[in-house]
Formats: sequence, structure tokens, C-alpha cells
Amino acid sequence: MKLLFLAAEATPFLQTGGLGDVVGTLSYYLSKKNSLKVILPYHLAIEKQKLSFQKKYLLTVHMGNCQHKCVVHEYAKQKNLSFYFIEYNDFFNRSPIYNDGYREYTDNPARFAFFSKAGLDFVLLQNWKPDVVHTHDWHTGIAAFYLKCWGGTFSSFFKETASVLTIHNHAHQGCASLDFAPYIGLQPQHINSNQFEDHQRLNILKGSIFYADQISTVSKKTKEEMLSPPGDFGLGAYCRNRKDDFQGILNGIDTKAWDPSTDSFLVKNYTINNLQGKTICKKALQKEFGLEIDAKIPVFAMVARFDQQKGWHLLKECIYNTLKWRIQYIFLGSGDPMLTNFFGNLPKYFPKQVGSYIGFDVAKSHRIESGSDFFLMPSLFEPCGLNQMYSLRYGSIPIVRNIGGLHDTVTQYNEKQGTGFIFDDPTPQALENIIGTALHYWYNKPRAIRNMRKIGMQEDNSWENRIDDYIRLYQQAKSRRLAWK
Ligand code: GLC
Repeated sequence: MKLLFLAAEATPFLQTGGLGDVVGTLSYYLSKKNSLKVILPYHLAIEKQKLSFQKKYLLTVHMGNCQHKCVVHEYAKQKNLSFYFIEYNDFFNRSPIYNDGYREYTDNPARFAFFSKAGLDFVLLQNWKPDVVHTHDWHTGIAAFYLKCWGGTFSSFFKETASVLTIHNHAHQGCASLDFAPYIGLQPQHINSNQFEDHQRLNILKGSIFYADQISTVSKKTKEEMLSPPGDFGLGAYCRNRKDDFQGILNGIDTKAWDPSTDSFLVKNYTINNLQGKTICKKALQKEFGLEIDAKIPVFAMVARFDQQKGWHLLKECIYNTLKWRIQYIFLGSGDPMLTNFFGNLPKYFPKQVGSYIGFDVAKSHRIESGSDFFLMPSLFEPCGLNQMYSLRYGSIPIVRNIGGLHDTVTQYNEKQGTGFIFDDPTPQALENIIGTALHYWYNKPRAIRNMRKIGMQEDNSWENRIDDYIRLYQQAKSRRLAWK
């Protein structure tokens, strides 16, 4: 199949969260049997990488009454997989890519609608007709609307091209003033409560759900949560309208990049049959973060954006109570300045017990997975989550809330089976209790800990297992496209 990916970020070029990871890895696995073009904005951070591009194209993009002239850079990664970067400095010559550190950029709807349209204009210019355009999150979901409604040569070129919208994070919906409508290309007939209108504002994700031929989210449980409040973030009715075309497909992980037996970021590699290397990694990690070096003290880790979603505030409320116990913590993340401040400063007060690194550092996050005993994910919501799957593979026992992708990938340990510890209530008390339970197991039931670790390390979360589900989704999108009038 010929597949076009439109996304705001993708590894190995740029990643701010799980979205980039999944777009990069999924496109790679799909390219083994399909032909893929992945189009990304030419963000400032990408420009700084000084990639050696093979080709350059000039492109004119019409939006509202504007005509934008931009440049598209081609980077052919391998046979069947090429990346294209759309350079338009007014929109993308910025860092960070979505916000100024505090607030979303106010022109985000214009930036990403332009990008989505430009991606389609580009393949039209190349006369490359995709079978399916796979859009990711609200940033590019609107491409489905363009495919069906732009009119003229555009619509006839794409009349058989289907669209798939994968929702990685439905908390972000691309809401904005209706004033953006003319620029984005929405006519009055598209601005109603079934399509792009939401409380007298624009909601781009909502309209994209209406127009996509197939919709998916990144776990089965999240699909269920999205059908009704409170987990739907207001989208329940629109997802229910499309329930026959809506699926949950669990994300996979890059099992080559995340393999403790070969991972070059680790001080010592290890396998399920020989976990001595993990103890060496643990001591090295305690040293790296200036903690007391003692393999008998359990290391709890948390690696996540400092963001409400991730549940840092629950930990903030209960951490002092838990620090009375014989326990160590290691944190890594960047984001919300209030949380960064709190977790970044804790090591000053508990230097032997708490280590933190503020920022995004791939090597450190691999070492944290290898050297920690437990991995915390107390998220308020988590469409999929990748770290719990990395943790399982690295023998760091996940402690997760019973929601979304965490629910689908971690099972409660019951003395014989299960891979982690699960809690329900999004409260500091519930988190403190589960940390206490994990500690109880650590100090009193070491055999259970060993057992759990080994069961977890055998879980198979590789992408190979998920690719067929995507191919099926693309085929369903193609049949749905033919049925659209
Ligand atoms: C978003 C979600 C996360 C998911 C990732 C990739 O970051 O918050 O749960 O794993 O997208 O799909």
C-alpha cells in the first residue's frame, strides 16, 4: 500500500512525547511491506540538526485568501521510507514546537491546518496518490476534511484516497476562535455541532472525527473511555456516532532500541537469565544521581513530562510520607515550571534518597529503566503510555493506575501471575498505599519480586504484533472511503 503519514513530530528527528516515538517507529515497521512518505514541519529543532537532504521542492499552498510559498526538503531514509519537511518560517521556526513554555501558541490552528494542507498539496505536486493518509492527533486530523471537501482538481486527485485518524491524546483538541474558520477553509456548512463547532468555538479534533474514514486510539481501554464521560473529554457523543469506524490498537515498542541485552546506554547489559547486570546498572544509577549506593534499597523511578496528565501532583502530595521509609526515588522530565521546581529541588533536602534530572535525556532514561526496581505511572489518563512497556522489558516493576493503556499492558500481581501493582483512585492516599504495598513485597517477599520481574520481562509488546491491525484498519478505511457520498 502507499501510505502518507502527516504528523507534528517523529523520531529520530524530533520527539517531545509518545506521539513522536510512535509515528517514527510505526512508520519504520510499516515500511517493511508498504511504501511510506512521512511529512513533518521543518521545526527550528530540525533545522539545527543540519540534515543532509537529497532534494528540495518549491510548493505554493492556498489557505483562505492567502498563498504561501514554502520549501519542502526530502530525506530518503531507506527504500520505501522517505521523510519530507515543510519549511515555512512564519509558522515553524520556533522552539518549543507547541507552546512558549507556558501557553499554547495562539496561531496553532492556522499552523497545523496549513501544514496538513501543504502535505497533501505536496504529494499532489509529485503526482503520488496515497491509498491512505494516516493523520495523528488534532494537528493533522483536518487533512480528512481537505481530502473530501477542498474541491476542484484536489478532490478529484484524492477521490479514492482514504484517511485514518489516530488519536494519541484526546485532551488536546485544537480549540480556537471561529475567526480561524475562513483561513482554515471551513465554510458555514461545516461549522455546526456535528462537525467543527463546539460551544461557539472551533474544535478541530471533533470535525476530524466526523470526516476521517477510520478512527483509532492507542489502546482498547482508551477507546472505551472515550465513548462516555468523564474519560471522553467532551468527545463521547461524536465518538459514539462513529463507533463502527472506531478502534483501539495498542501501541508497540521499538524492541531493538529498548533491549537490555544490547542497549549501549547501559553500563552493563543483562538478560532474564542473568540479572546480575541489572544490579550493576542499579548501583551505577545510584552513583550517577548521588544516592546512597546499596542494592538492598529499592529505587522507584518516574520518567514523564511534568504535566497534570502524568499524576506528578499525586506524588508531590504523598512523597514526604513515603520518604520516611527506606526508599529511593529518581525523577526525569521537563515541563510545568511549578512541578519542575518541586521535583528538581527535592534532592537538596534528601540528597541520599532522591535524585532528579530536569530535561529530556534519552541515555539517562534508558539507564533509569535498567537501574530502577519500580517504575511509577500514576497518570490521570494515559491513552497508551510507553514507559510501562519499556519497564517490563527492563525488569523494573510498573506501578500504574488502572486506566487506558496502563490497564491494557500491566496486570496486578496475585502471588502467581501478574506483572505489576495497580491502583484505582487518583488520590495521593491511593498512591501512597500502593507504594507501601510494593515496599512490603520488596522487603518481605523477595521471591515474589523476582517472579514478577521475570514474568514482565517475557511480555511481548513489539510492533510486529500490531502491524496487521493497522493494515486491517487501512483496508477498512479504503472501503469506507468508497461509501462516502
Ligand atoms: C500520547 C499519550 C500516550 C501515548 C502516546 C503515543 O503522548 O499521552 O499515552 O502513549 O501519545 O501514542
